[in-house]
Amino acid sequence: MFSIPFIDIPPLRSAHGVVHLPGSKSISNRVLLLAGLCEGATRIHDALDSEDTRVMLAALRQLGCKIDAGDASLTIHGLGGRLGRSVASLFLGNAGTAMRPLCAALAVMAASQGGRFELSGLPRMHERPIGDLVAALRQLGCNVEWLGEVGYPPLRVSGAAADHRTGGADTQLRIHAPIRVRGDVSSQFLSALLLALPLASSAQPITIEVDGDLISRPYVEITLNLLARFGIVVEVDAWRRFVIPARSVYRSPGEIHVEGDASSASYFIALGAIAAGDAPLRIVGVGKDSIQGDIAFVDAARAMGAEVTCGASELEVRRGTFPLRAIDLDCNHIPDAAMTLAVMALFARGTTRLTHIASWRVKESDRIAAMATQLRNLGASVRAGADFIEITPPRTWQAAAIQTYDDHRIAMCLSLAACNPLALGGSRSVMPIPVRILDPQCVAKTFPDYFETLFSVVHADEADIPVITVDGPTASGKGTLASAVAQQLGYHFLDSGAAYRATALSAMRAGVAADDEAGLATVAANLDLQCLPGQTRLGGEDVTEMLRFEEVGALASKISAWPKVRAALRQFQLKHRRVPGLVADGRDMGTVIFPGADLKVFLTASAATRAERRHKQLILKGISANIDGLRAELEARDERDQSRPVSPLKPAQDAVLLDNSALSVQASVDAVLSAWQQRRPFG
Ligand code: DC
Repeated sequence: MFSIPFIDIPPLRSAHGVVHLPGSKSISNRVLLLAGLCEGATRIHDALDSEDTRVMLAALRQLGCKIDAGDASLTIHGLGGRLGRSVASLFLGNAGTAMRPLCAALAVMAASQGGRFELSGLPRMHERPIGDLVAALRQLGCNVEWLGEVGYPPLRVSGAAADHRTGGADTQLRIHAPIRVRGDVSSQFLSALLLALPLASSAQPITIEVDGDLISRPYVEITLNLLARFGIVVEVDAWRRFVIPARSVYRSPGEIHVEGDASSASYFIALGAIAAGDAPLRIVGVGKDSIQGDIAFVDAARAMGAEVTCGASELEVRRGTFPLRAIDLDCNHIPDAAMTLAVMALFARGTTRLTHIASWRVKESDRIAAMATQLRNLGASVRAGADFIEITPPRTWQAAAIQTYDDHRIAMCLSLAACNPLALGGSRSVMPIPVRILDPQCVAKTFPDYFETLFSVVHADEADIPVITVDGPTASGKGTLASAVAQQLGYHFLDSGAAYRATALSAMRAGVAADDEAGLATVAANLDLQCLPGQTRLGGEDVTEMLRFEEVGALASKISAWPKVRAALRQFQLKHRRVPGLVADGRDMGTVIFPGADLKVFLTASAATRAERRHKQLILKGISANIDGLRAELEARDERDQSRPVSPLKPAQDAVLLDNSALSVQASVDAVLSAWQQRRPFG
């Protein structure tokens, strides 16, 4: 998705179909790091491609790893525990799964091999604590300096240049005594040590001891599981003591598959529980064989009423009990996915209480405060404390613009509020409301295609799917305007002229005459036309350029006067009205095809201006043209389009008239977006 200020999701009524999950973030970043540190090459299949994994890959490249990227796999040539560079400045975005383990691994390697590495991130990363990990690294004898505030990134790890005569980690690091680390703020500190300390392995084992209760244990289990895949079997004693065996060496497994992301699955499990009433929602990528703790979200969703069938690596979800059952749940084991339960609570009878979630406060945002505020914006009653949240569903839902705090999970889980027509058993007396998600591209952190995936499995009442029409004469710039508006709003785009032009092109190719109405209608009804962003395909062939030929446009104008041709193309146009919305341009979008459109724009420009624009376009393409001839042709086409008895070109009664003769494209786009904002319920 492009960088857009918001995405409006219309009220949703049902969901079914198949979702393919992106790779697990937690597994991907651990595997990328392990593959980067180990000896030999590792081929990684289905790794997540998102902001968090890109910063990890960029860091590994900066450290000297060679990485070959293929279509669905990556091959990383590991450093074999030897740094390829001795100085680097790594930018790690807001990826805790990159910052914590890289800090530990580089501190340990710099201590024995020398070097200087600076680690920084986005402003929010600089508010996320790392002091407990650094305290543990300092016990070991690593050198870590704060470059900003004490206890938070940015920071620098360094070590004296390696002495090759005596070199060897055990001469530098104090690994004889157990290393103590706090486990009650973030489990990533322990995971980071577990991933880094094998690099300091020597003739004796290394022991880590956890102070305080270890939270988010399942994430540590992922770490242990992947360490084992790379040849290191850690001894675990009551989740308090972890022993890395003597002479541990990372060994590449050669090849490794990354399973789908279980936290990302939670949004679709919830969606199925709320909206898969008739047919199930299949979620491919995780199942009962998953090594991710968030797969336990399935049990929580079942407790609320979901019907879930688990395969080895896929799930099938249906609505079971509905309205959902309110629950009171300790969420320590599923901190990330638990946010999704907070949104499911909007669809439950009674008050849902989620406890043991203090770690929410130090994640991508202060998630307890953020969720409380946004759920209240939707109309829910919320109580929140240091480590709990309590949600009672809205009596009346409010159309809300959801702030997302640059936190992917806030955007994804709260998008499900768009299922509000189903709340309270689907009573039609509840006014269905759209939901606006601000800064939707924040999902790029872990699930770049989240909204496209969501929209591919949900259904809304047609009347609830917004349509903006842009009609106007040829060369008025309506195509440019409409596609820019569609892009800004994240809506689908229909260039209805392309359908008439494609009919004309097909008719020319098939030798169907311009006066053979029935023959032309058959051609129109059988068009295999695909309008993709920036490309039109006819029967699989890219015809984008060809459709713009003057003779094709002229024939399109002629044949579009036939009622049977127009009727044959009607269905093709109507089916573009899909979630989340549509911007359609043409001649009769606002008058005939979408007479109930939410905003109708009639775009004009003087014939002289339009002739000039067309002239410029043709010259740019290297086609010589005469401006007076073009103007005469435009006027003739206007006359034909306006005077035909069926669907003549004219503004709808309720259209906003926009003359763009003196406006830049951006000014026209802004004028339409501003008219659109005024019609939306978000204030
Ligand atoms: O918008 P355009 O220039 O690509 O359209 C090509 C021809 O198709 C135009 O001359 C008239 C016809 N047309 C139509 O009749 N109704 C529409 N909705 C769109 C185009």
